[in-house]
Amino acid sequence: MAEWQRTHTCGQLRTEHVGQTVTLNGWVLITRTYGNQVFVDLRDRYGLTQVVFEADAGDLFQQGKELGREWVVSITGLVRNRLPGAERTDIATGTVEVEAKVLRVLNACPPLPFSVTEFPDEELPNEDLRLQYRYLDLRRRSIQRVLTQRHKVCKTIRDYMDAKGFLEVETPLLGKSTPEGARDYLVPSRVFNGEFFALPQSPQLYKQLLMISGYDRYFQIARCLRDEDLRADRQPEFTQLDVEMSFVEREDVLAIMEELAADIFDKCLGVKIPTPFPRLSYAEAMAKYGSDKPDLRYGLEIVDVSDVAAASEAQFMKAALETPGAVVRAINAKGAAATFSNTQLKPGGELPKVAETYKAKGLAWMKAEGGKLTGSIEKFFSDELKAKLKERLGVADGDLLLFVADKEAVVCDALGALRIHLAAKMKLYQNWWEEKAAHDEAEKKKVDAAKKRKELYTPVPFQPRAEHFNFLWVLDFPMFGWDEEEKRFAAMHHPFTAPMDEDLPHLAKDEDLGKVRAKAYDMVLNGYEVGGGSIRIHRQDVQSRVFQILGMEAADAQARFGFLLDALKSGAPPHGGIALGLDRWCMILAGTTNIRDVIAFPKNQRARDLMTGAPAAVDARQLKELGVKIG
Ligand code: AMO
Repeated sequence: MAEWQRTHTCGQLRTEHVGQTVTLNGWVLITRTYGNQVFVDLRDRYGLTQVVFEADAGDLFQQGKELGREWVVSITGLVRNRLPGAERTDIATGTVEVEAKVLRVLNACPPLPFSVTEFPDEELPNEDLRLQYRYLDLRRRSIQRVLTQRHKVCKTIRDYMDAKGFLEVETPLLGKSTPEGARDYLVPSRVFNGEFFALPQSPQLYKQLLMISGYDRYFQIARCLRDEDLRADRQPEFTQLDVEMSFVEREDVLAIMEELAADIFDKCLGVKIPTPFPRLSYAEAMAKYGSDKPDLRYGLEIVDVSDVAAASEAQFMKAALETPGAVVRAINAKGAAATFSNTQLKPGGELPKVAETYKAKGLAWMKAEGGKLTGSIEKFFSDELKAKLKERLGVADGDLLLFVADKEAVVCDALGALRIHLAAKMKLYQNWWEEKAAHDEAEKKKVDAAKKRKELYTPVPFQPRAEHFNFLWVLDFPMFGWDEEEKRFAAMHHPFTAPMDEDLPHLAKDEDLGKVRAKAYDMVLNGYEVGGGSIRIHRQDVQSRVFQILGMEAADAQARFGFLLDALKSGAPPHGGIALGLDRWCMILAGTTNIRDVIAFPKNQRARDLMTGAPAAVDARQLKELGVKIG
């Protein structure tokens, strides 16, 4: 071992090491000079140790003073107890310090674009700067915790899947397009100019082929690439736990995944999640919550009042109802009458704006005050109809009723979005990290108060609880959705999802296609879609018909998916599976709403890597070799 190499990490020293000579390697977090002592907080990924340079150490004292932030150093010194009153209970090494005897600067650096912070309450530089210098940002303790937790999630998954007899098999990145509803990232071939590989949107077809090959329990922690509009919970390059099983029914897949979910929460967050998860049909989820990934931590159910509206004098509602498939639905925002002023409810106000974002033409409202309904549309409803509304919506004084009249899809979207907006505004649920922040703040006060009394108080860590997490399954999706722009049916999940056995006859007639339900399921957690899968089509004739329904002529289907159609004729077992969005899981487990927080090197919202600058222009020669012309 070279003499500068560490004997201990920066998180390792305890009272039992007092009197030992040790060598630490790490980064200088901060230095503080107090008269005849320089204190250096030395940091590595294991923790933080206080190093002291004493004035009587001659040159060494001067060298200690000159250390800069983020210099990499090796320090040999003597472990000693901290002075009474100087102990820290918030770090594991808080009872000891190291008196420096030898300092070796392994690498100095100039002042950096931002300071690396150690504690969660320190102010962060803006995200763009952090992404540009991600290698500095990754030094922060909170990101280290997240990446450590992500590692633990993957380890838990691998252990669990292995114990259940699943094989991890890698599948190609350079392949043929698998439609998952996004644009493909394409890679031009140098050998076959004018031809392209598509990077996988998921390993969907490969895992089905593995089933046909007899590998009846497969999993992979797989990278997926989708060129789609980004959101806070979407990245162009993300990771799935991809799973496929043969000779199974829906219940087998759901049971395995529930058990895995409980195992991940137990091992990675110390939370016991109750199983089985509640289930909702797609139709019920849309009708009651206006979303196929409803957050059930709060109520605010949507209620159909089309019949009451039809009997009223509200012309705009009656006119809307004349369109086939139109509905009038409402939400009773309990106790919210005083939360929203009439101005916030006027056209252009806060709540109508939310509804209009989702294409609603407007938002009608009433408030319940002094036993009466008041507000924009009250005059159109007779006392009898008002009584009906009150009963149906469970109205009490102080309630705010919100109505949207439109095509069903618009009503669902608008009221679904309003439900989310209202719940956040009215604080109908608490995110566990918000509760943690309040808890940590209170514990910090106790530490400070104890310090004043010259006592030590060890803060109690926050423990999330099962009630912070709302898992559910959404089932019985329609097989096809009508694509207004393309004027044709599109697959709600992907084209390889099997229809329900009892709906198979509906596949025959174009006019019945809207009735076909799919053997598909989504896993939802706190309003996020954290997984999706299905039982697959394993009959070649059914797959061919589905391709045809999706607008693919036989020759086209053969050209694109001939290998699958042939394989389905070659002894394909019944099979099904699922994929969990690993980044979203890590996001929820880490207590953030930003997916970039749980990815070591993420892209920004515009799909650019701010650190390397990718995507970037390439040499004209490279383009020529690939047979690609720009512009
Ligand atoms: P699906 O497209 O539903 O299914 O994807 C599965 C899960 O992956 C996550 N996810 C994403 N996470 C981050 N960024 C994205 N851009 C992104 N897109 C999806 C979601 C989603 O639930 N092959 C099928 C699975 C199957 O049928 O077995 C598939 O990929 O959490």
